[in-house]
Amino acid sequence: SGDFNQKIDYVFKVVLIGDSAVGKSQLLARFARNEFSLESKATIGVEFQTKTLIIDQKTVKAQIWDTAGQERYRAVTSAYYRGAVGAMLVYDMSKRQSFDHMARWLEELRGHADKNIVIMLIGNKCDLGTLRAVPTEDAQEFAERENLYFMETSALEATNVESAFLTVLTEIY
Ligand code: GTP
Ligand code: MG
Repeated sequence: SGDFNQKIDYVFKVVLIGDSAVGKSQLLARFARNEFSLESKATIGVEFQTKTLIIDQKTVKAQIWDTAGQERYRAVTSAYYRGAVGAMLVYDMSKRQSFDHMARWLEELRGHADKNIVIMLIGNKCDLGTLRAVPTEDAQEFAERENLYFMETSALEATNVESAFLTVLTEIY
C-alpha cells in the first residue's frame, strides 16, 4: 500500500538473520505493517515483505527477507543472500547463546553476501530489561570490532525498529 502508481527509484534487498525465536519475523511485522504477535510461529522457508519509503527525495522500495533461524527450516543459503545490500543480524538480549552465535551468522553472511553490504547488529527484546543476559557494552564492542551498526530494539514496544531499518536503508543509499 502507499506505492500505487509510484515511480520506484531503488529496490533494496535486506536480509534478516539470527537464531530461532530472537524476533526476526516480529521485527519485520512491526516495520512493514506496524503489527506484533506474541504467538508468532517459527518461520519455515523464506518470507518477505516490502515497504516503500522516501529517502532523500528518492522512492526506495525496501524488500525485507526473513528466513528460519532453525537449520532444518532454512532456505537455500546462497539464494537467500543473493543481491542483498543490507542485513540485520538479530539476537535476543535475554538469551546469551543467541548473541554468542552472532559470530557464526556473520561468517555465513560475509561468505555469501556482497562485500559492501551494510550490516546492523540488533539486540531485540529490550522490553525484557530485567532478564538482560547481554550487556550493551559487549554488543557495542563486538559491533565496533566487526564494523557493524548496532541498536537495541523491541518489536513488542516498537522501540528503535523504524530507526534500525531506516539507518540501514539510508546507509545503503
Ligand atoms: P524463527 O522464525 O524460528 O527464526 O524465529 P524468529 O526470529 O522469527 O522469532 P519470532 O519473530 O517468531 O518471535 C519469537 C517469539 O518472540 C514470539 O513469541 C514473539 O512474540 C516474541 N518476540 C519477538 N519480538 C519480541 C520483543 O521485542 N519483545 C518480546 N518480549 N517478545 C518478542
Ligand atoms: Mg521467523
